[in-house]
Amino acid sequence: MPDTGSRPVPDPRPAAAALPASPPEDGIALATARDEDADQIVKLQYLCYQSEAELYGDYSIAPLTETVAELRGILAAGGDGRSDGATVVLVARRGWEVVAAVRGRLDGDICRVGRLVTHPRLRRRGLASRLLAEIELRHPTAARFELFTGARSVDNIRLYTRRGYRETGRAVDGGIEMMFLAKPAGTPA
Ligand SMILES: CC(C)(COP(=O)(O)OP(=O)(O)OC[C@H]1O[C@@H](n2cnc3c(N)ncnc32)[C@H](O)[C@@H]1OP(=O)(O)O)[C@@H](O)C(=O)NCCC(=O)NCCS
Repeated sequence: MPDTGSRPVPDPRPAAAALPASPPEDGIALATARDEDADQIVKLQYLCYQSEAELYGDYSIAPLTETVAELRGILAAGGDGRSDGATVVLVARRGWEVVAAVRGRLDGDICRVGRLVTHPRLRRRGLASRLLAEIELRHPTAARFELFTGARSVDNIRLYTRRGYRETGRAVDGGIEMMFLAKPAGTPA
């Protein structure tokens, strides 16, 4: 009987062992925002909404003027997706960094979605789409999801349309034409 003892047994699959590991995950996880995320979210909004501000020539839009204290107040109120009036804030995190965010607030049976942002260097990878899907999931009692964007923000409109949102109307607010979009719950994206 051969003595195999503690000697290493040669791997009969050298080719397989030499193959590179499967592609790493993007390492980006979605989570409910915490108090300590407020600073990063406000900075991310400030960075991301510059293009919108430039497009409309208005740098006083709410996402650019919100303070960390205001956002901390929203986070402290702690929406759970079922309580009327409280806001759920979701972030996409890579390690310590908040790279994308979105909010949803239940208003009766309507979930109002807003402040969707993705860091410029991580765009066009489906992050905003993931966050939209997640904020919808977090509001299981909502019959309908509503959001708005500037009527000239064609990229945003295309993204929302792809996710099942449809235009419901337009209105001029502070000289900017806004487009309102909605999606009934359960609409396939
Ligand atoms: C709007 C915004 C949040 C989109 O973020 P994003 O993470 O790039 O969005 P997504 O990746 O989900 O989708 C964007 C596009 O990338 C495409 N995409 C998604 N995954 C992709 C992938 N793996 N490879 C290539 N393209 C991809 C999507 O199909 C979509 O294409 P389309 O524009 O032709 O429809 C981001 O551009 C932003 O922060 N803008 C400034 C703030 C703003 O205007 N927010 C909205 C206010 S209403």
